[in-house]
Parts: sequence; C-alpha cells; structure tokens
Amino acid sequence: MKVLVVGNGGREHAIIKTLLKSDKIDKIYALSGNGGIASDATIVNIDVKDVIKVASWAKENAIDFAVVAPDDPLVLGAVDLLEEKGIPCFGPNKKAAIIEGSKIFSKNLMKKYNIPTAKYETFSNMESALKYLDTQEMPIVIKADGLALGKGVIIAETLDSAKEAVRSMMQDKVFGASGSNIVIEEFLTGPEVSVLSFTDGKTLIPMVSSMDHKRALDNDKGLNTGGMGTVAPNPYYTEEIAKECMETIFIPTMEAMNKEGRTFKGCLYFGLMLTPKGPKVIEYNCRFGDPETQVVLPLLKTDLFEIFKAVAEERLSSTNVEFYDKSACCVIMASKGYPEKYDKGFEIKFNGDKENIFVAGAKLDNGKLLTNGGRVLGVTAIADDLKTAIEKAYKKVETVWFDNAFYRKDIGQRALKANGEK
Ligand code: AMP
Ligand code: GLY
Repeated sequence: MKVLVVGNGGREHAIIKTLLKSDKIDKIYALSGNGGIASDATIVNIDVKDVIKVASWAKENAIDFAVVAPDDPLVLGAVDLLEEKGIPCFGPNKKAAIIEGSKIFSKNLMKKYNIPTAKYETFSNMESALKYLDTQEMPIVIKADGLALGKGVIIAETLDSAKEAVRSMMQDKVFGASGSNIVIEEFLTGPEVSVLSFTDGKTLIPMVSSMDHKRALDNDKGLNTGGMGTVAPNPYYTEEIAKECMETIFIPTMEAMNKEGRTFKGCLYFGLMLTPKGPKVIEYNCRFGDPETQVVLPLLKTDLFEIFKAVAEERLSSTNVEFYDKSACCVIMASKGYPEKYDKGFEIKFNGDKENIFVAGAKLDNGKLLTNGGRVLGVTAIADDLKTAIEKAYKKVETVWFDNAFYRKDIGQRALKANGEK
C-alpha cells in the first residue's frame, strides 16, 4: 500500500508516525511535508493548495490511498479530485468541507437543526453590521466568514474595538475575501473542549477529548496562536457531558449534513464551550486539529489506517475504535517572537529519542535540520496520569535544543486544577 498524506505540519507528522505503526502500509509520501517529516516519509514538493497538481501526482505515482489533512486543500476540493481519479481518500469532499469553510454556513446549519451554539447575526453590509453593534452588549465576537489561517475571530471588549474589527474585516479586508461576509455573535463563557471524531456519515465515533492552549504566554496571556500545547483527555469533559454532546451536537450535526446533501466523511472536529447553559459549539473544523492530534493519536490503540479505510468504505459501524486509558501532554516549542516576528534557520538537535516528537516548522539543509517556522515542533509524552504526562513532556523538552527556543511552562496546569490537583 502506497499512502499519500497531504499537509506539512505537526499534525501531519503525528498522522504519519501513527500510520507507520500499521503493517498494511509499505510506503508513505508527505506532500509537501517538512524537514522533520522527511525522516519518516518521502517528501513530495508540491504546494498543498495546488489541488489539481496534487491529484495528478497521486494518479501518476499509483497512490492507493490518500489522507488530506489541512483545511485549505479540503475546502478547495482535493478529495473530489483524488476520488475522480479513482483514489480512495480520508477527508471530506468540497461540499462537506464547507462546514469549516464558511462560518455563515455552519451557523445557519446549527440554527436550522437546533444544535446549541452562540446567538448570532450574519452581515454582508458594513453599515448594517455597525448599526447592529450599537444594540448589543459587550464583549462581543466578530468572525470572518471564510478561512483566515485561524485568525479570523476577534473578541471585542468595547463598542469601539468591535466597530474597528468590523471595519478591518469588511472595509480594509485584512483577511481578504474571507471577511466580505461576517458573523457577529454572543460572547460565551466556560471551559473549552476539543472533540475530534471519526465519521463516515452513518456512524460517528468521538476520539478522546483534549484541551488546547491558544495564547502565546503562561497563564493564558499574550496573543492568540495556532496552539502552544495540548492535553488529553480534557478533565472538564465528563462522561455525562460526553453523552449530552453526542445526543445534542454530534449525531445531530452528522444527520444535518446528510439532510443537506453534504454527507461528511473524515475527521469532524467539534470546538465546544461548556457554558452554564450546557455545551455549545464554538466552531466546527473539517479536519484533525493541530496540536490536538499530537495528543489524541498517540493514545489511539486501534490501527489508524484500518479506521481511515473503514471511513472511506462507509463501514465504521463494524470497526472497533479504542484508546488507551492514559493521559498525554504536548508542549509546542516555538521560535522566540512567535506569533509575531521571529527568526528562522537555527539548527535543531535531539539528545534523546524522537518518539512522539512531531515537527511542524523545519527544513533540511545539507543534512542539518533547521528551524523554518514560528511553531517548530511538538513534544508529546504519555503516562498513566496527567501529572506524570506533563512532567515527562517537560523532561523530554530538555532533550531538544535550538537557539531562540520558546515554550510555555504551564501546559496542562489548567487541566490539573480542574482535576483538583496542582
Ligand atoms: P475559532 O477560531 O472559532 O476557534 O475561535 C478562536 C477562539 O475564540 C476560540 O477558541 C474561543 O476561545 C474564542 N471564541 C470564539 N467564539 C467565541 C464566543 N462566541 N464566545 C467566546 N469565545 C469565543
Ligand atoms: N487547534 C485548533 C485547530 O486546529 O483549529
């Protein structure tokens, strides 16, 4: 079996390392991967957004199965093009990927099918949006409709900053066409939980829950980032809440997509907030989360490739999906200055084993691995309990070295507190 994994970050490295455990796979290609992924897969230098080229390459190279991981190629229809060429895929087609590709679509879907989410209005006209803000309480949340590299959400504390956010999206187009239409929604409070799930449109199996740490600095201070660390499972996500989410959110979403003629097959990601009025959807993603995947997949007991094939062949109901009853912690090592300005090109050295180290931003240069991004790599450790997993992850961080390395020191502390530990 020749498998193609489309994507180039830590999430893709985690998917590839997990697939390597399957004895059904002979060879993995990473398109376009990165310098760190190059030790585990053959690199194909094609831009993930050039979906026509991606599909042609896969056909020419007799790929047996493709996994499309990032949002952009999914929303651009990479899966449709690959399937047209007869290549089975894990990942939603273009019609289903809209659940992440358009926030207006997903909000309207939730309203139509009574799936709990923040109250909202959508706008394509700036003056109406500004007028609406005058009638609302602060803080308020403003979201660009389309993909915006995870940056299209602004939480405004004051009316002035809310108006500024609307102008920056709709007039100054800071997120390009993604901000031509916007959602303005109610500010919710409560712990956040990420739940990734496998679904083939008939069955939905949630994976172990996780908790992201989005702010750049300790104690959840600093700017929003793509994620500075994760833990799994998320202690706020009790069995009772899981049951409620399954009944009021997960299954209704799968069925809603079927009713809309947009059957979703792949990994459906639920970004949830456990509000005083119950769990509500903050966002859907049409793919594995990053860096959630880096704690979820190391806890997976079942062969990931078997699950991917079962989803593609719509026989998930007869597939057993099991996770280890353990905890995982992932600490992201970034370059100083991220998410703003940072330098690249520092050599990365490993003084320990590379098990569960997932490289996100690095390139090979004359045999040396150099930093090549803001988030450089994720270091994951697993243990029977969360406290030990955190300790192990930080010990392992000390075995990785590069100039200007920067990481949060408190990944998992919020989860420990929720557990009543310190
Ligand atoms: P998103 O890009 O949709 O994941 O949003 C980024 C972050 O903004 C989320 O992880 C939340 O922390 C926050 N957020 C989004 N929507 C809301 C909301 N309605 N109320 C409060 N916080 C929100
Ligand atoms: N960690 C959030 C995301 O992948 O969008």
